[in-house]
Order: sequence, then C-alpha cells, then structure tokens
Amino acid sequence: MNSVLNPGRLRLGVNIDHVATVRNARGGDHPDPMRAAQIVAAVGGDGITAHLREDRRHIRDEDIARIQAATALPLNFEMAATDEMVEIALRHRPHAACIVPERREERTTEGGLDAAGQHNRLAPVVARLSDAGIRVSLFIAPEARQIEAAIKLGAPVVELHTGEYAHAEGEARAVELKRIADMAALAARNGIEPHAGHGLTYDNVQAIAAIPQLAELNIGHYLIGEAIFVGLEASVQRMRELMDAAR
Ligand code: PXP
Repeated sequence: MNSVLNPGRLRLGVNIDHVATVRNARGGDHPDPMRAAQIVAAVGGDGITAHLREDRRHIRDEDIARIQAATALPLNFEMAATDEMVEIALRHRPHAACIVPERREERTTEGGLDAAGQHNRLAPVVARLSDAGIRVSLFIAPEARQIEAAIKLGAPVVELHTGEYAHAEGEARAVELKRIADMAALAARNGIEPHAGHGLTYDNVQAIAAIPQLAELNIGHYLIGEAIFVGLEASVQRMRELMDAAR
C-alpha cells in the first residue's frame, strides 16, 4: 500500500487468515475469506493481508486470485522467503509482499525475521520481488540492527512486530512501546516506511496508532475473533475509530 493512496492516514490492513482457519476446520468453502475481503473493503479498510503458509493452514493457493479479484484493495501477501513462495508471489503480483519467518510448529508468527543474520538468503528474494514491482516489507523485531539490515537489503517497508508489546504488562509494556516508537522513527529517518502489527486489540492499539511515523497497522486475530460476536463490519469499524482517535 502506497502512502499516496491515503496521504496522512494510518492505514488499516485486515489480516483475514483466521476466516480461512475456520473454513479449513471443516474443509469446505465456508466462511469464505473472499467475502471477508469484500466486507473489509465496504467498511473502509485500506488493505487485505493474508499469509500463505507452507502447510496451507490459513489461505490456500486458489484464495490468492479470488481475494485479488474480490476487491480493489491492495493485497499484502505474507510469505516465507522460499523459492516456492517467491514463484507464487511473482505469478500473482500482489501490491506488497511481507516476508515473515516461518516455522511449521509455531502457532503464529512468533518472532521477527532475522534480517540481520540472513542477508545473503534474503537479498535475492527482496531483489526478485522488487524487480517485479512488488513492494517488499520485512516483518522484524523493533531492533536497530534489524532496521540497519533492512536498509542494506533495500527494503522500502518494515513491519515492526508488536507481539512483545502486546504480551507485556505495566512498565515492561512502556519499554516495548518506546522501542517500537524509536524504531519507527529510525526507519522513517532512513527512508523506510514503518508498519506495525501482531497481537493488536481494541485495548492496546491506540498507543501504537499514536506513533506518528507509522503508516499502516496489520491486524487479524482479534478482529476476526470479535467478528464472531459483533460481525466483521462492526469490528473493523471499531478498530478504525480507535485508530483515528489516537492520531
Ligand atoms: N503482521 C504480520 C506480519 C503477521 O504475520 C500477522 C499475523 O501473524 C499480523 C500482522 C497480524 O497479527 P494478529 O493476527 O495477531 O493481529
């Protein structure tokens, strides 16, 4: 998602993976992540995020084109830095590709990508995606050495992992918040657009949304969970209101 699309506004990318998780629990077609994408578009979401995992536990291959066709919203395609995923991204040409670490046994993307330790593995992936016009984002921990690695890799975007912040309490949360704010500022000073996401909820989103350099938040599990009770329209709208109020 390009800041030109929504100048000055903190964008909300809705991760619809867990609509697919519920669908996959029964192996059929319902609930359809494509319909979720259409609802997100109808209520003013700024983008759709989806992760094609190696084990396909979230969206499936055929969902990618269906989601792209369902709305005009930009797709932020989360992917591991593997040859298989690069080929798939090049076939579908999503607006953005967010490179995430992936371990089969993890429940979710538990940590950031080690961009600093994996320069040689990531460089050709970033180059191939960028050459195809896909905006590359690296999902990293809010650490200076990871930002420096993103600069060396030429990534235009970093997504700062907010999981530690979301799980921390009290003073520890304030420390994590400052880390994210400092790293968003460092990224922006170096011409990298900072995004953030993971574990964000109605209760913890506002302190993150108030960080002025952040251009986009990607939020999934909580919004889909809330949607069970209030509907996806209402959960996305409420998150949007909280983000707007924090700016
Ligand atoms: N951003 C990235 C890169 C992710 O991998 C995820 C999902 O793990 C999210 C954002 C959304 O996190 P959550 O589902 O906890 O809101």
